[in-house]
Parts: sequence; C-alpha cells; structure tokens
Amino acid sequence: MTDGIRPLTVSAPVLRMRGITKRFPGVLANDRIDLDLYRGEVLALLGENGAGKSTLMNVLAGLYRPDAGTILLGETHVEIDSPRDAAELGIGMVHQNFMLVPTMTVAQNIVLGMPDLPIVPDLEEIHRQIEALSNRYGLLVDPQAYIWQLSVGEQQRVEILKLLYRGADILILDEPTAVLTPQEIEELGHVLAAVQAEGKSIIFITHKMGEVIAFSDRVCVLRQGRVVATKRTAETNPRELARLMVGREVLFQIEKAPADPGETLLVLRHVCADNDKGLPALRQLSLVVRRGEILGIAGVAGNGQRELAEVITGLRDIKTGEILINGRDRTSSSPLQMIESGVGHIPADRMGMGTVGNMAVADNLAMKSYRSPPLAEYGILRREKILRFARSLIEAFGISTPTPQTPVKFLSGGNIQKTILAREIDACASLLVAVYPSRGLDVGATEAVRRRLLEQRDAGRAVLLISEDLDELLTVADRIAVLYEGRVMGIVPTASADVETVGLLMSGSEAAELDGVTSAPSTVGAF
Ligand SMILES: Nc1ncnc2c1ncn2[C@@H]1O[C@H](COP(=O)(O)OP(=O)(O)O)[C@@H](O)[C@H]1O
Ligand SMILES: [Mg+2]
Repeated sequence: MTDGIRPLTVSAPVLRMRGITKRFPGVLANDRIDLDLYRGEVLALLGENGAGKSTLMNVLAGLYRPDAGTILLGETHVEIDSPRDAAELGIGMVHQNFMLVPTMTVAQNIVLGMPDLPIVPDLEEIHRQIEALSNRYGLLVDPQAYIWQLSVGEQQRVEILKLLYRGADILILDEPTAVLTPQEIEELGHVLAAVQAEGKSIIFITHKMGEVIAFSDRVCVLRQGRVVATKRTAETNPRELARLMVGREVLFQIEKAPADPGETLLVLRHVCADNDKGLPALRQLSLVVRRGEILGIAGVAGNGQRELAEVITGLRDIKTGEILINGRDRTSSSPLQMIESGVGHIPADRMGMGTVGNMAVADNLAMKSYRSPPLAEYGILRREKILRFARSLIEAFGISTPTPQTPVKFLSGGNIQKTILAREIDACASLLVAVYPSRGLDVGATEAVRRRLLEQRDAGRAVLLISEDLDELLTVADRIAVLYEGRVMGIVPTASADVETVGLLMSGSEAAELDGVTSAPSTVGAF
C-alpha cells in the first residue's frame, strides 16, 4: 500500500500481503492485492459479493495457494500451504460455514486436531482453560455442551474460542454477523474489543457499512478482485465507502408514502411443513398480508424463511393448515396454479430456480406469460410478439443486455435479478413473494429493486418480503413479522419498530413480553 496511512500505534505491520493473485477458471478473484495488518487493530475487509474477500483470506488461512504474490509475517517470508501451517504461524479463520462436529462437545471441538495433545487429555484441565478464556473475552459458552445443542451464535463463539485456545494472534472472521441477531452483533463487538486489547489483530470481512464504522480501525475496500482504497475508519464515512465499494455515487434513502392496506389477500393459518431433511420447518405458522402493504419477514437465516416462500408459491407441500389467496383455498396447489392465482416469486436462488442461463433474456422474460395471448395464439408462440414484449420490459426495468437474444448467463448479477423482477412483477397480479431480492446486488441496483417493490405495493398488490437485512425491512416493509424456529414470534409495525425489539424476537423472545408487538394471529377472528 502506498497511501501513506500510519497505524494508530506507530510500528511496522505484523503482516504484509504483497501482489496476491488468485485465479479460478474464468475468474480473476484476486488481482495483485496488497494488504497490511498492524498489531492490535481491527481491519475491515469491505466489498460486494464476489469482490474476492473470502478468496484473499482463504489464501492467508492456507486453504488456497495463490498464483502469485508473497506473504510476510514481520520481516519473514512465509509459505502457508495448509490451515495447520497458518495455525502454527498464529493465523486462524472462522469461515462462513462453521466447521464443528455436532456430536462432540465444545471442549472436544476446541482441542480437535491440536498437534501436541496427549493421548489421554486431561479434560477437566481443558474445561478450566476454556472457561478462563470464555471469561477473559466474554465468549460465554459451556465447554461440556454438545455442539448440536448450541445456537448458531454460540457455535460462532466456539469457533472464536478455538482460535484463541490455539494462541492465534491474527483472527480472520468471514462475515460473522450474517448469522447473528442485533444483540449478538453488539456482543461480538465487545469480544473484538477484548481480543484487540491484548494486542491481537482481527480481519473482519463484511459488506455492511454500519459494521465497518462500528467495529474497525481501518478499512480496506475490494472491488472486482482489486484493492480500490484503504482508509482509516475515523477518516471516512458510509457514503464514501459505498461509492468505493460500488464504483459510483449511491443514494441511501428512498421516499415512501404511508401504506394504504386494502382487503386481505394472503392468509396462512396454522401451517406446518417439513424441510428437505424431513424435520419440522414451519410450526403452526399463521399470517396475513393485505393488498397495498409490504409484510417483511425478519429472522436469522434458517428459521423457516425458505420453506415459507416455498409453501406460498406451491413448491412445497404443507402437512397441516390452510393457505388462502383472495379468499380461495389454495392449500395444496401446484406452482402453476399459484402462478394462475396471481402469485409472483423472486426466488433466493436466481441462477438455479429463477432463470435458465442458456436461454435468451427475451425467453426468460416470457417464461411465465407464454401460455396465453398475446404471446401465444392457438398454442403457437409468436416470436415477434415475444421480442416486442421483452423489449418493453428491458426498457422499463433498465436491464442492461446487448440484445434481447443474449443468453441470460452472460448478464451481471444485478441484471439477472432485474430480469427476474421484471418477469415476476409483470406476471404478478396480486401477490409478490420476494426472497432476499437485493442479495448480492450493488447499492444502486438494490435501490432500484426496493423502488419496484414499493411500486407494486402502491399499485394495490400484496408483497411478502423475506430479507436478512434489517435495514432493508425497516426501509421498505410496512409491518415486520419475525420468524423463529418456524413460528411468527411477533409482528411489529415498521413505523414504531426498533432494532432492539426485532432483535429480541429474532432470538425467540415472546411477543407478550415486549411493548408494541402483536402476537401472530392464531384464530380466524384475529384476522
Ligand atoms: N472455489 C472457487 N472456484 C471457482 N470460483 C470461485 C471459487 N471461490 C470463489 N470463486 C469466484 O471468485 C470470485 C470471488 O469470490 P469470493 O472471494 O468468494 O468473493 P467474496 O467473498 O468477496 O464474496 C467470485 O467471482 C467467485 O465466484
Ligand atoms: Mg465471501
């Protein structure tokens, strides 16, 4: 780095990565990256999805070998060929998907794979050591508990403890807050401060500006595999960081008129459904969405969000309960019947479920309308009408594609997303189910998507917005229902919602204990 930034404590970096390049087939994930890390600092690694953050850290943690570049620890060149090499050098990483053994205890997981462990380890001594570390860093967890008994947030603490137990001096956390409630995020902040206070260094991967500001001393911004800037956090701001991350100016606020909800459109009553493993995913879930409103669904990932979208769009059978759309029973409808009932669906998996990559943009856009006039007449597809139809949507939604005939797989993520959005909104007559609609989009495309959702609402449609981004829900939704273990824990009007209340519901607190929160409707009368 040549930007002249001095560390808070003037000293040489403890770690220097120089010219790191890493290619995957067809992708230059890291392009000659330089990165410095100082003792006792929290360095945020900020970038959009796909910017190359995880790749760079996997190189540092010994999972990937770079195609070029060097790593210096202090003044020494180091080769990091495996996670074990990294651990010996005092470098450890908590990955996005945890790597714990569910059938073993916390303590067993922490010592698992440690090189100089005696054949019969003194478990009591290990428990004592773990408890001491727990208290020292505020990472509260019972060393004798089994991993399967722990919440995701607790499992993350175990991963961090594991690094500390091994004496790591450089801790890498890959998007640690994605699986946490707002309260747990705050606790993580205290842990980072305690770790940092002992002179250890932390690299914190995120794509959220707020976390950079709250937690880091410096921030390194990656875009398309390159470092675009490194700043002292105190000397920058969210707007500048967003511009660096995305490559242009970004607006954060969208104006929103108050909702004017009409008749009830979607009713779920005591719905139970299993997940793919055959375990209960939705448990007696009840909710209503009215025309002219956006009901947001909040919750830590994996609490039934996916299954909820699937039962409403006919992709998953329910075991008990009822689904009504427009007052009509749609309990065991097929996806096609749901489309015919006016349900649009922006799926989480855009390349898999949302689009056919090899098919032209025009055909992807027509996928839901081709069965009926004007695109088909007497069962015959009208090519020129499909093209005209596609051109109008491409223009209306600002989809950037060379031609309507270009295969959709050649478009950027944002434009694939807009293609799905255009198709689903066009085909959606009454209810739009949007699942993580802005995931992976740059800030500009995110704003466009949010505006479209509000337009749908204002046109009198009902919108169910499932999101992992609380800020998005607070900006766009009119009411927020919080999912926890397949149940609606409570419903909060956005106007009076605060992050703390939503966070408590996300961690399973009962609505009755909180002010201004309604329980989920459990009887027809309550609708
Ligand atoms: N194991 C892999 N094989 C092929 N491509 C990969 C692999 N890991 C990452 N990529 C690609 O490299 C680029 C950077 O990915 P990643 O480092 O995961 O980004 P980030 O963590 O910033 O979201 C992306 O285009 C991604 O698709
Ligand atoms: Mg990543």
